[in-house]
Amino acid sequence: MLLQKSISLQAYNTFGIDVEANYFANITSIHQLRQIIFKEELKDIPKLILGGGSNILFTGNFEGIVLLNAMKGITLIRETPQEVWLQVAGGEVWHDLVQYCVQKNWGGIENLSLIPGSVGAAPIQNIGAYGVELKDVFISLDALHLPTGQLRTFSKEECQFDYRNSIFKQSLKGQYFIYSVCLCLQKQPVFNTNYGAIQQTLAQLEQAGKERSIATLSEAICQIRSQKLPDPKVIGNSGSFFKNPEVPRSILEAIQKNYPKVPNYPLKDPNKVKLPAAWLIEKCGWKGKVIGNTGTYHKQALVLVNHGNATGKEIYNLSETILQSVKKQFDIELEREVNVIGMN
Ligand code: EPU
Repeated sequence: MLLQKSISLQAYNTFGIDVEANYFANITSIHQLRQIIFKEELKDIPKLILGGGSNILFTGNFEGIVLLNAMKGITLIRETPQEVWLQVAGGEVWHDLVQYCVQKNWGGIENLSLIPGSVGAAPIQNIGAYGVELKDVFISLDALHLPTGQLRTFSKEECQFDYRNSIFKQSLKGQYFIYSVCLCLQKQPVFNTNYGAIQQTLAQLEQAGKERSIATLSEAICQIRSQKLPDPKVIGNSGSFFKNPEVPRSILEAIQKNYPKVPNYPLKDPNKVKLPAAWLIEKCGWKGKVIGNTGTYHKQALVLVNHGNATGKEIYNLSETILQSVKKQFDIELEREVNVIGMN
């Protein structure tokens, strides 16, 4: 059945929070989506687009309709001796797409292996890991405007990509259902191995007889991620809960007085640096702490977890306490990366 009522969303968010939505629709085509949004009883109620549910925290029931993007398909739309362009439906699982490209030996997204979530959600926060961001391979996307049902193609510039950010998290938040994304992959792979642990893990795989290839790099990334990050199927979580803050250099210098080795990354603006939120949170004593049903992951302080039966409010309250403690100790205001539904 296309439209369901009073549905539990527990299986649809990687935190595993048990809340309900008044209405729920599994969207497999644009035609179907238009039928739903123009239905008399649904046209004026709140709408929430859901992909893999891996970047969302529900703090209460959702009084509206959840539109689950279940559109599938990967199509090769252009090929040259150097590159391929793929048109990928928004409901495809991101890691399935990565594996598809790795098998074909098409380079560009192997560093984004094992990122949870769907293809349609990837541009919203410009997913990134290990020195690569979605914007590096992005060409355009197609989306449906929920209030009017009109279709629109967005170029890369129009998406206004930034660190874990795009126009779809800002002025156009919640307005567009992204049903297709066009990406450009390279046939002559360029290996991106500068980030921290990659060199070391690759060297181990090569010592074990593996050749340097897109597949080996993807394997290295999968190993690094699964050693550090909890599997949402085992422990509910949504990856990094906060963004890494960009701060004035003076703040870094103040921290360096007590912690000369604080990790930091340069930015285009020489007066600013990016600091790892995980380090700040750990230094405030939160790493691995268990508070009721929630806590931070013992191997990665930036990941808030559901130890079982946590409510969204409990997790939100923990995030608020962490925010205040980092503010007090370092005078830095962390910003949530995860989309909180029901608190604002
Ligand atoms: N660190 C700590 N304590 C910890 C964990 C890390 O001090 O508990 C330090 C590390 O020693 C390192 C620094 O913090 O110096 C950075 O750690 P890491 O390389 O693990 O990356 P991150 O900055 O915590 C970011 C992304 C991740 C992405 C990794 C790898 C954000 C908010 N997070 O994490 O993305 O996988 O880099 O590129 O930018 C996500 O967005 O959900 C996500 C997992």
